[in-house]
Amino acid sequence: MAYVTVEATRGLGTELGPELGTDSSGEFCRTVLEGLSQSRKILAARFFYDDAGSALFEQITTLPEYYPTRIETALLTRHAEEIAALAGPGRPLVEFGAGSATKTPLLLRATGAKRYIPVDISGDFLEEAMVPLRALLPHLKIEPIAGDFTQPLALPVLGEACSGFFPGSTIGNFDHRGAVDLLRAFRRMLGDDATLVIGVDTRKDRATLEAAYDDAAGVTAAFNRNILVRINRELGGTIPIEDFDHRAVWNEVLGRVEMHLVARRSLTFRVAGRSFAMQAGETIHTENSHKYTPEEVRLLARAAGWEPLGFWTDDAAMFGVHVWTATGAAMQP
Ligand code: AVI
Repeated sequence: MAYVTVEATRGLGTELGPELGTDSSGEFCRTVLEGLSQSRKILAARFFYDDAGSALFEQITTLPEYYPTRIETALLTRHAEEIAALAGPGRPLVEFGAGSATKTPLLLRATGAKRYIPVDISGDFLEEAMVPLRALLPHLKIEPIAGDFTQPLALPVLGEACSGFFPGSTIGNFDHRGAVDLLRAFRRMLGDDATLVIGVDTRKDRATLEAAYDDAAGVTAAFNRNILVRINRELGGTIPIEDFDHRAVWNEVLGRVEMHLVARRSLTFRVAGRSFAMQAGETIHTENSHKYTPEEVRLLARAAGWEPLGFWTDDAAMFGVHVWTATGAAMQP
């Protein structure tokens, strides 16, 4: 593992990103119909995460091909003290997304945080995720917030210097504009004295990237197809799921792994009373996972009102953990 210090130089417009709207079947229905009506069909990645999808994603994080979770955890383990020193010891820790019982305690322990504020859209998922954490860190005050972190949220840290935590390279699921908007929103929510610990996946060779999103056991394929299962179940769909192939492809120009569902034959189906037709080989684009060079991460930080303080990567530069500090005055949306 190498430690790299960055010299002390120091709205959410994504079409496929996981940005969350109101969690109602109406919004799901409207967005799905809109996406399937486009000449290039798309579905929003945020709809992957029903109970079955969340369980499949948990499985993905343990796959040999899916390096991000493994390497990020190793970086957080190995460099916990240095990361905590830059992030600021003893501060309340705000995590965007429910905390993992493996990664989150590493940072909580190293920083000696007394308060932990996990923010997640699903209150049920939050409660579940907090069970192992409460057992591991019984003295930690946990103040969960069930809410959409892409929307302005009032955090219980007003006027206090706090740290944000955004692991897993979830930022990669937003397009560049959406990513800047989200990081600006974090900056506003966390305040002028905030720091942010963020995990970002790096650009690398095509074979490694495509294998990470198309594993031999077929778990990612099941995760991708699950969005169709959900549409059939919740929106009275008749999509012939077995006639769709999973495809993961590295788009070198746009710096992202794209996931698609490819029709094996020409087919028709109905969703919420509407009819759709697809040609053989036509795809539904379901997810983008952007990968960033360290230089691109720096630009992203600065565009969003943050200044890089340091980052850590492994010997093969597979993944990066970055610590940023807030700069200037928070910009209004
Ligand atoms: C949640 N997110 C960071 C994952 C990723 O790597 O883009 C989602 C995922 N999709 C397929 N595998 C994992």
